Parts: sequence; structure tokens; C-alpha cells
Amino acid sequence: MSGIEPETNPLRDAQDRRLPRIAGPSGLVIFGVTGDLSRKKLMPAVYDLSNRGLLPPGFSLVGFARRDWADEDFARVVHDSVKQHARTPFREEVWRQLAEGMRFVQGTFDDDDAFTRLRGTIEELDKERGTGGNFAFYLSVPPKFFPTVVRQLKKHQLSEGPGDSWRRAVIEKPFGHDLASAQELNRVVHDVFPAHEVFRIDHYLGKETVQNILALRFANTMFEPLWNRSYVDHVQITMAEDIGIGGRAGYYDGIGSARDVIQNHLLQLLALTAMEEPSSFDADTLVTEKLKVLNAVNLPADLGRHTVRGQYAAGWQGGEKVAGYLEEEGIDPASVTDTYAAIKLEIDNRRWAGVPFYLRTGKRLGRRVTEIAVVFQRAPYSPFNTTDTQELGRNALVIRVQPDEGITVRFGSKVPGTQMEIRDVTMDFAYGESFTESSPEAYERLLLDLLLGDTNLFPRHQEVERSWEILDPVEEYWASHGKPEPYTAGTWGPKAADDMLARDGRSWRRP
Ligand code: BG6
Repeated sequence: MSGIEPETNPLRDAQDRRLPRIAGPSGLVIFGVTGDLSRKKLMPAVYDLSNRGLLPPGFSLVGFARRDWADEDFARVVHDSVKQHARTPFREEVWRQLAEGMRFVQGTFDDDDAFTRLRGTIEELDKERGTGGNFAFYLSVPPKFFPTVVRQLKKHQLSEGPGDSWRRAVIEKPFGHDLASAQELNRVVHDVFPAHEVFRIDHYLGKETVQNILALRFANTMFEPLWNRSYVDHVQITMAEDIGIGGRAGYYDGIGSARDVIQNHLLQLLALTAMEEPSSFDADTLVTEKLKVLNAVNLPADLGRHTVRGQYAAGWQGGEKVAGYLEEEGIDPASVTDTYAAIKLEIDNRRWAGVPFYLRTGKRLGRRVTEIAVVFQRAPYSPFNTTDTQELGRNALVIRVQPDEGITVRFGSKVPGTQMEIRDVTMDFAYGESFTESSPEAYERLLLDLLLGDTNLFPRHQEVERSWEILDPVEEYWASHGKPEPYTAGTWGPKAADDMLARDGRSWRRP
């Protein structure tokens, strides 16, 4: 792995973070604008930012795709997506101002004329809407197209703006499919854009509850003293989804759950949960701490005992019969792609030595929930009779990332009555009850940071590469060891995953 080179612009980072965070003159170009992500997340996020007054009046949105659309057709698609998916109420005047800055460029990624037209469109927008030459290029396209698009941007002088304007590249996950492909991709991108203008998206970092991990740990005194191997028995990080793969067969088959979310979202959650306190929250310092802990992550020696992969079979969910993975449209009936993965990791440092981190994810599980559970050791000595405490589990602190955002602390309490009986109770913090402010969508936050040039919430190339380095041996092991174990849709995954924890004398939480 290469050393940590500066990927921030010091002038930009000197901005006072308490000033209102409003983007300056700028525009966004989306490649792959007809895709799901664009319609469900990016377009609504642009509108929501505009509605909240966080975009400049001349903000411009350019779509680039193969469809034979005029600007008005594109604007209509954005309109429908905003109406359907935006978080904030629809306001005609906000929409009108935004729609005036919408342009569509028709073409394929290898089409030189299309990129020449894109350049013309950007120059026009600079004149008409005062975008100042500042444009971000959002690559919401399959990874195999990243190099072509990036090289085209360079070839058509789009990767550098006039004067002191900026040009940025935004890259959606998956960033490669293993270490070698990620390194190659990083080389291609860094060849065209300076490191501080490359924004790799991991939308989990834009979630309010994920940012709160740092607040919980480092703005308080009561948790951190316990946050180590002397008190913590193990940590469980769960990202469970009840949905199947929907219309994403083309993307998902051959990728699977571990590459889809463990390599990025779950390892980022692990890094934030396990890292040391950064001396400040600037991007360079944060990444240094995250990398230190990712570098200390190790896989156990026997991957057959400490990893599990599964694939959903037909079952029932929400009262409806749902198809198994192999019956989904577009899936190879002999596919061995994992839709469930569980991996045990160790962190070899003074704070965490001997404390397992269990990561699991899956589609078509019991319900949609993402949480980080820090499970504490039992009291070293109990003065109570074992019969009094038989219903007492281990103390736990659970960061509920979604959907019921908050934090739960589980501990033992005396059951009211004449006997000494102790049972688990919970103490809850719920965002909805404590705050009147609603949380912005992750993409809203990330798009604003992108336009402001704030790289804090975007993984660096070293983190991405290190995460692949952690996962690659698991994928290699799976590729040469049979098939994923089937599990019935609507359940909590394959039995082998329960066995994996049982062998360690533990069990998965049922969130
Ligand atoms: C994406 C994965 O990164 O995250 C999807 O590619 C997954 O497979 C999605 O469904 C889940 O995101 P969220 O924000 O709904 O938890």
C-alpha cells in the first residue's frame, strides 16, 4: 500500500465549519442519469438541497446518457423523480429555478462528439447561469466504464476548468471488484484528477447515525473507558435487508453481498467503531485513524469456520410468497453468488486484541435493520444466585443506524416484587423523540460536501484498497469451496451462521 498523500486542499479545509454551508457557483454532470440511483437518490437530493436554500441560484444539472432526449424530456424525468422521491415538499418556484438549469447531452461514453457537446454545454451554462467553470462529474455507471469516461473527460479538456475553477470526479461504488482492479482504477482516476478532487461515494458515511458514532464516542466520557478489550466481549455489525435484488440482477450476480456492502459500508462502520480518537476532524487526520485500524484488521486462520455465505431460497415475506434468488429474473440458475455473508474479523492492536468483530449482511432477511452492537463481558463476579440472574443477558450498547435511528443500552434490572430476580431492560434514545430537526438523506449531505469540496465523508483510495485486501482472501476461499448455503427468504440467514457464533459460545442478536 502506498503512504498517505495529502488528498485535501488546505485552503479549502481552513473554512470555518460553523458558517452556513452553502455551495458556491457550480453544476453537476451525471453520467448514467437514466439509472435507478440517479432517479431515486441523486435527482431528489439535488432538489432537496435547492429547496433548503443550499445551492446557488444558477446551479445547473446536466444529464449524459444514450437516450434520445431533449432538455425538456430530461427535466420531465427529474420532475417525476422529485415528485416521487424528494424528502421536502414540492415548491413550484424552487422547481422552476432548478429546471431552467437542466440540460441533456445525448451520447455514448466512447463518442467524442458527445463529449465535445458536453464541453459546449458547460461553457454555455457558465455564461448563462454563472456556474463559474465549477463542475463535478458524477459517474453513476458500471465500473467497467469508469476508465473510459475519465479518459474522455481528460481528452476533451473537461477535467480542468478555466482559471481557478474546480473540476471533480465522483465515483460510485463498487470501486473495483478486488484489490488489483481497485488499484488499477485508482491509477486511472489519479492520472486525470488530483487526489483532492476525487470523491469516492460510500453513502453510509453520509448517514446521520453513522456520523453520530464519532459524537457518541468522543464527545462523552461514559462510553470510551469501556470501549476496549477489558470490557467488550465482542462487536456485531449487522446490515440486514428484507428486499431481494429487485431489478439489479445485472449488477448483483457475480458480485454478491460481501463485495456489495461488506467491502465498503460494513468495514467503514467497523473503522469508525474501533478507531482511536482523532486529534481533529479534518479529513487527513480522520483517514489516518481509520486506516490505522483497518491495517490492524485480520482474518482468522480458518476461513471455513469463521466465514459463512448464503443464498436466499423462496419463502414468505410480509405475508407474500417471494421467489428464491435463482428464480429471479436475469439470474443464472446455476449462480453461486452470495446474498448473505457473515465474517469474523480480529483487530490486532492493544485496544481490541482478542475481541471478535462479527460482520453480517443479507438480502431477504427477517427485516430491514442496520445496527452496531457492542456486547460487553459479563460481570467478573456475581453476588446473586444463578437462578436470580438466569434471564440476564450481556450488557450491550446498540447503535441503531436504521430504520429506527437511535441508541439502545441493555442492562440488568431487578424485577419488581419480593424476590431478587434480575432481567434485561433497555434504555433508549430515539432521534425522533429527542430532535425536532429531520435528518437529511445521505446523498443530500454527500452532494453538498462534494460541491463544497469537503472530503471528510469520502473514503480515500488507501481505505478502499485496504478493504479489498481484507476481503479478497475470503472471496478466494469461497470461490474454491463449494456453494453458498440456501436460507429461506424471510428468515435470519443460513444455519451455518448460527453455528459459526455458537462455536465461539455466542449468538447473533435478533434485532
Ligand atoms: C447499496 C447496495 O450500497 O446499499 C445495495 O448496493 C443496498 O445492495 C443498499 O440495498 C442499501 O442502502 P440503504 O441506505 O438502504 O441501507
